[in-house]
Amino acid sequence: MKLSSFGEKYTGHSGIVDLMADLGEALHSRPDMISMGGGNPSRLPDVEKIYRDHLISLLNEPEGTYNILGKYQSPQGDEVLLNQLADLLRTEYGWPVTSRNVAISNGGQSAFYVLSNLLAGRFSDGTFRRIQFPLVPEYIGYADTGLEADFFTSSRPAVDILDEHVFKYRVDFDNLNVTDETAALCVSRPTNPTGNVLTDDEVRQLDAIAGQHDIPLIIDGAYGTPFPNIIFETVSPHWSENTIVLLSLSKLGLPGVRTGFIVASEELIQAYANANTILNLACGNVGPAIAGRLMQNREVLDISTRLIMPYYRDRAYATMELFIEAMSDLPLYIHKPEGAIFLWLWFKDLPVTSAKFYEILKAAGVLVIPGHDSFAGLAQDWKHAHECIRISYAQDEEKVRKGVEIIAREARKLYDRA
Ligand SMILES: Cc1ncc(COP(=O)(O)O)c(C=O)c1O
Repeated sequence: MKLSSFGEKYTGHSGIVDLMADLGEALHSRPDMISMGGGNPSRLPDVEKIYRDHLISLLNEPEGTYNILGKYQSPQGDEVLLNQLADLLRTEYGWPVTSRNVAISNGGQSAFYVLSNLLAGRFSDGTFRRIQFPLVPEYIGYADTGLEADFFTSSRPAVDILDEHVFKYRVDFDNLNVTDETAALCVSRPTNPTGNVLTDDEVRQLDAIAGQHDIPLIIDGAYGTPFPNIIFETVSPHWSENTIVLLSLSKLGLPGVRTGFIVASEELIQAYANANTILNLACGNVGPAIAGRLMQNREVLDISTRLIMPYYRDRAYATMELFIEAMSDLPLYIHKPEGAIFLWLWFKDLPVTSAKFYEILKAAGVLVIPGHDSFAGLAQDWKHAHECIRISYAQDEEKVRKGVEIIAREARKLYDRA
């Protein structure tokens, strides 16, 4: 089969595709494997019941089946839902937005793909612009989305040691080099993979810098406000005409409906809607229909803050305690869990790379995500990038406890041998 450059790009080497294939194969061949690698949200029965009840009641409405299954949405998405979301953002946060500032997407990943390629790449005047991550590690799923190679730049963060076993990344503004070739700044807040939440000050500064260069700041709120609000710190939501906020239903426990939202300037929303029509014709209806129900009476905010956020906060801190107890004698640092659904572990001076450690852990029966693929766009390799792993604690507690024991045992063997 002869493939185009597009075909070659999307079938060639990709860290995330290789890793997901490897994870899938490992789970298939060893069903007893403890999976602390994936990005699936936890199952929360109370929340699942709410979605199920809404779905059944939506189907039972007059014309329900037709409304959900039988017709296309408009390119920007269902006008009623766009108004509901704009109203929620205006009244809850004071964002000056209307339905013309909001669009619906088939998930955050698809929204990012369209937006990043609208903003970055080759321009008609021959120039080339890149998306810049002001802080890596960043979401692994961005790394291969550019239609052209060399699509991202990034800079190392400042690393603050908070106590014997806890650290936090900060944007290193002194080394943030925004140039004429920067197309946009992009952050996930909370950050996948680290659980970092950029402070209000960092976000304000980034928006100001982006504004000075007349480029947008993309804030990927897949775990953020207003939903699913998996944030354990007190921080404010941020939007300006210059900001593109991406939201998703996935981490509310609805990854199967593939629904996301974009909140941006009218000009950008219009550009997105045009591109989305060409690429997708329209978005699905099931997710937006459930979202419409959840917006009524602000139920989505109640579910997020009462049921979802506390669950992840408690699991994050409990799992962090387990790791610290199991490895109090080792140079292990855990990123302060401030949000999202993962823990980010830094094994300082780890005697092997995180890629090798991933293999050792897999052989020992635990799947994790090695950290090095989360540093897209760095001009120079960084030792730290090979000393970190991401773990998920979404599994049942007993399995997580066993996984922690195995990770501690294998890490200790490596340090003892060195
Ligand atoms: C930071 C971040 N952005 C976007 C996505 C994509 O989410 P969606 O399921 O809405 O495509 C994910 C998924 O894990 C994510 O972690």
